[in-house]
Amino acid sequence: MNKLLQSYRLGDIELANRIVMAPLTRSRANAQGVHSELAMIYYRQRAGAGLIITEATAISKQGSGYVNIPGIWNEAQVKAWQDVTHAVHDAGGKIFMQLFHTGRVGHSSLYGEQPVSSTTTAPPGKVMAADFSMQPYEAPRMLGAEEIPGIVAQFKNGAENAKKAGFDGIEIHAANGYILDQFLRGGVNERMDDYGGSLGNRVRLLKEVVEAAVEVWGPGRVGVRFSPYNGSNGMSDPDPVETFTYAAKEMNEFPLAYIHITEMGAPEPAKITRAIRKVYKGAIIINGGLDKERGEELLEDNTADFVCYGMPFISNPDLVERFRSDLPLAAADKATLYTPGPVGYTDYPVAKEAA
Ligand SMILES: Cc1cc2nc3c(=O)[nH]c(=O)nc-3n(C[C@H](O)[C@H](O)[C@H](O)COP(=O)(O)O)c2cc1C
Repeated sequence: MNKLLQSYRLGDIELANRIVMAPLTRSRANAQGVHSELAMIYYRQRAGAGLIITEATAISKQGSGYVNIPGIWNEAQVKAWQDVTHAVHDAGGKIFMQLFHTGRVGHSSLYGEQPVSSTTTAPPGKVMAADFSMQPYEAPRMLGAEEIPGIVAQFKNGAENAKKAGFDGIEIHAANGYILDQFLRGGVNERMDDYGGSLGNRVRLLKEVVEAAVEVWGPGRVGVRFSPYNGSNGMSDPDPVETFTYAAKEMNEFPLAYIHITEMGAPEPAKITRAIRKVYKGAIIINGGLDKERGEELLEDNTADFVCYGMPFISNPDLVERFRSDLPLAAADKATLYTPGPVGYTDYPVAKEAA
């Protein structure tokens, strides 16, 4: 019995299978955060996934901390995304937009102001500035309490624009060290007010954002992504199990489509997802280093409802077909993950062409 390939209902959306394409930043937008036709081709090629989740897309200029990532705060960006959603729908696919604000992960040259966060400590390492040079991260500015509603409003605006762009739903990016994760994780959040300290306070901003997103989208159309163990972008938490089971439990208050857990960095496979499964009543997507067999197992033993693949979708646009027909997978070229143009983006052949 192959559960991966069975159709399945997510909220009120019928998905053709339980295979999800992970959000994957590919840095192919222009300097204004607008996609070209290439993105439409790229996503259409991958419409065999039960659900596509787009690359992380910035909700505001202030939240756009990387060179050439797409945005969703203006008309030109919405229009370019409309071409993507039409193409995916025409090909029979479903697509959610992942929304983010990068917080302290960014550089002032990209948006003309000091980065903002829940801390005044910079992440370690360097980031690409607007002139493509690598620069050390700048120390962020702690957001004033009076500025927090503005961050929620940026997410709400992004949610509204994603709706205009024709998406089937949105994923709130609370993973991988961006602004919501900077508030969630105890090792980074230094605030002393209602948004820092206790777990309840650290989850508050996420809950306000989710509430605003659900107001726009209604039930079953908003997902949330967590990365309890991912240490990239200087992230840490003294007790990831406590933090993320708490956050997941709080998500029961909302009629979400799903919680999406990426296990990157987890000490033991599936353990955190099973802990979240116990406290969270809705659907769960699991991700991180999985292959077809492992994905099938995780559905069979009811650890998750959907299985999400990242790198395999980069180099196998027809990943679902390859799973169905037991065909070998092509390896992705790491050198072209973030380079401009079609090479390593839209030129990976489907298995039939490769043969
Ligand atoms: C090139 C690349 C870009 C990524 N961009 C994002 C992103 O925009 N948003 C996100 O939540 N995760 C992002 N991730 C993490 C992936 O969604 C996924 O969690 C990770 O690749 C592990 O899954 P896999 O082992 O199936 O590749 C990215 C990963 C890679 C390799």
